[in-house]
Amino acid sequence: MSPASLVVPQRAPMRRLNSVDATTENVRIGGPTVVVPPKHLMAPSDAHEVAAAFEIARHELESFRSATSSPSSPPLETLITDKFAFAFDIDGVLIRGGKVIPEAIEAMKQLNGENRYGIKIPYIFVTNGGGKTEQERCIQLSQQLRMEVSPGQFICGHTPMREMAETFKTVLVVGGEGEKCREVAEGYGFKDVVTPGDIIKDNQDTTPFRKLTSEEHKNSRLRNFAEVEIEAIFVFADSRDWASDQQIILDLLMSKNGRLGTRSETFEDGPPVFFSHNDVVWSASHDLTRIGMGALRVSLEAMFKAVTGKDLKTTAFGKPQMGTFQFATRLLQQWRNDTHGINSPPDTVYFVGDTPESDIRGTNEFDNEAENNWYSILVRTGVFQEGTVPRFVPRATVDTVLQAVEHGIEREYRNALKKRAISANTTPAIEE
Ligand code: G3P
Ligand code: MG
Repeated sequence: MSPASLVVPQRAPMRRLNSVDATTENVRIGGPTVVVPPKHLMAPSDAHEVAAAFEIARHELESFRSATSSPSSPPLETLITDKFAFAFDIDGVLIRGGKVIPEAIEAMKQLNGENRYGIKIPYIFVTNGGGKTEQERCIQLSQQLRMEVSPGQFICGHTPMREMAETFKTVLVVGGEGEKCREVAEGYGFKDVVTPGDIIKDNQDTTPFRKLTSEEHKNSRLRNFAEVEIEAIFVFADSRDWASDQQIILDLLMSKNGRLGTRSETFEDGPPVFFSHNDVVWSASHDLTRIGMGALRVSLEAMFKAVTGKDLKTTAFGKPQMGTFQFATRLLQQWRNDTHGINSPPDTVYFVGDTPESDIRGTNEFDNEAENNWYSILVRTGVFQEGTVPRFVPRATVDTVLQAVEHGIEREYRNALKKRAISANTTPAIEE
């Protein structure tokens, strides 16, 4: 045996960064990281093992080290169950209008072992929300929930867009605050990212009613768009100015090969449009739901039809698309293989959401095609309002995320008891 084959591959050490002063940049660069509230900095908290293990699983998935590879030293003893897991939607379930929903804190404590069975339960976050990197969301959620969280636990609506960075070179990125979405897109590996601000800076007549602020003018990049071909349009986050963003998207859709200032004769030569999700409404701080990215999509399709007479085909990622649930499955499978040496996802995943059209629909449809069980739980703290009939019917409806967690844990306990009783009845009696 050559000496090289005796070398055991070493994992990069897990870094623990203070949630108060962590920045997106230092979370992103430097290997696997957990973001930690100051009070847990001295020693790992109950949430550490889950957060760290998902961070490693995610790094392995992204470096194409699939779950088919052999488990890397599973811990000898762990209180974390491999049988079931939770996946949480964020807006309307854990957070509303930037504020934590109070029951979410207790729900997380239960998952981290403070339940009557003393077990710990793995969990991930699957949100359609966007406009921030997974790292930034992680810092924010760690502060809001006051617990250890890793970027590896996050799946955002725009997460799958990173896979398109190889396919499209020059892209228009729409939505979000300031330069944030450009940063997200560049972080995903897109080589040449254009924003609506860049286009207005080049020709301010593009949008008659929008003038760039001095900040926007400073950040926007000057170039000659008569010479640029925009190959694809990505709506990463909610538009902050529908009128001007739609004008620019429409100009590109009607152009010849994404060159601004040109018009296609057939209106069939424009670049493709991708949305990071399709939520028509979402749950923000207002008592009633607010319109979201799905509404922009509907509006754009209608406008294209009105102006050109043609149908526009657009693509949306996020929930309820199966790709989002498939990615979550790969992550859970990688985690289970790493931590328990079992190369399949947990038997049941409890998905807790507030939007029937994305959370419940996606979970139910994925349950039909998945090898394991996906169990949908609808909460009453967000989009869904009591007294209405959801178009997509959840397996359970509860008031809050805390009740959702208790529901899942109790269901698992009852199922385990049932199984034990069945196997006791079928075990042949031992004759003396
Ligand atoms: O824009 C955000 C929103 O549409 C939904 O986020 O966390 O409820 O999937 P979430
Ligand atoms: Mg939601």
